[in-house]
Amino acid sequence: MKVGNLVGLVGWRGMVGSVLMDRMQAEGDFALIEPVFFSTSDAGGKAPAQARNETVLQDAYNIDALKRCDVIISCQGGDYTTAVFPKLRASGWSGHWIDAASSLRMQSDAVIILDPVNLPVIQNALHQGGNNWIGGNCTVSCMLMGAGALYKAGLVEWMSTQTYQAASGGGAQHMRELLTQFGTLNAEVKALLDDPKSAILEIDRKVIAKQRTLSASETANFAVPLGGSLIPWIDKDLGLGKQSDEPGYGTSREEWKGMAETNKILGLGDGFGTPAVPVDGFCVRVGAMRCHSQALTFKLKKNVPSADIEAMIAADNEWVKVVPNTREATITGLTPVAVTGTLTIPVGRIRKLAMGPEYVGAFTVGDQLLWGAAEPLRRMLRILLQA
Ligand code: HSE
Repeated sequence: MKVGNLVGLVGWRGMVGSVLMDRMQAEGDFALIEPVFFSTSDAGGKAPAQARNETVLQDAYNIDALKRCDVIISCQGGDYTTAVFPKLRASGWSGHWIDAASSLRMQSDAVIILDPVNLPVIQNALHQGGNNWIGGNCTVSCMLMGAGALYKAGLVEWMSTQTYQAASGGGAQHMRELLTQFGTLNAEVKALLDDPKSAILEIDRKVIAKQRTLSASETANFAVPLGGSLIPWIDKDLGLGKQSDEPGYGTSREEWKGMAETNKILGLGDGFGTPAVPVDGFCVRVGAMRCHSQALTFKLKKNVPSADIEAMIAADNEWVKVVPNTREATITGLTPVAVTGTLTIPVGRIRKLAMGPEYVGAFTVGDQLLWGAAEPLRRMLRILLQA
């Protein structure tokens, strides 16, 4: 069925939305569509330069205005989706809803979109009349862009992931808070830093004293200091209510998504009639800006030579890049600073672990605003326009 090209854009001014707009501009997507820009606060205002005939901002809560669209892409957030999506569907709208928020992800009629990894799952749903296309959790999407080859080959018995997640995963205000904290800490010891003869332990004492007394407004977003520290819990507590020896007890929502979304993206587990691959580990917030990194431990179903693993990963998609497991290549190519603002997904530190030949370690980094958020959305739009 041909999909029309009237495309509503909601939340295009926010952080993910702005990255999406930049990518759509760079890839010439606007030439293929008639964009309709929606706003939750400025209906009646002027649409941005990408508008053609639809030059007035539409009210993002106006169901009739939304209903005109063939496709709607929302980067407005979960509260908006929860408020608007059910009403829109209840009104009889059968257009395509593409969403960055997590609210609809685990619904049985929603597909988590990451087409370089799961195009067959997307195509299958499309042929069956699917019209809810939801971007995945950033950590999961970046991990699968890097290591998806091992899953596609059916080699993974289980995977454990330890994440190093950037401030941007919390939102724009979280990034500002991190940088403000770095500035505050630096200012606290600037005079001592400028004096090469000052004592490092005095600097350290002053920094920790400052971190421990940051005001409520200085930690409003992360609740505790992140600058010069880390936070080994992301999102809500989902483990409460379980018995202490049950898997899932004491699990954060971000950690739960690791297994739930990895399997759903790949078309495995509940709802697909196949066993799920166990995925578990710890999700940790660190003081990076917008790249999520993760250390992966795989238990493979059989012993595969490292060189074959590297070759499979390298050949999986055009964005993944195997970084040789050397110190120099790692510190220059496998960091948030190297990757930020690019679509490259480096995978390095690939090596057999001491536990045995089926145990493989790897480390990967991805820009969580690109493959982790905006890119799968605009690619889904392209898939629909070509359908
Ligand atoms: N939940 C992620 C994080 C962000 O907090 O880093 C988006 O998926």
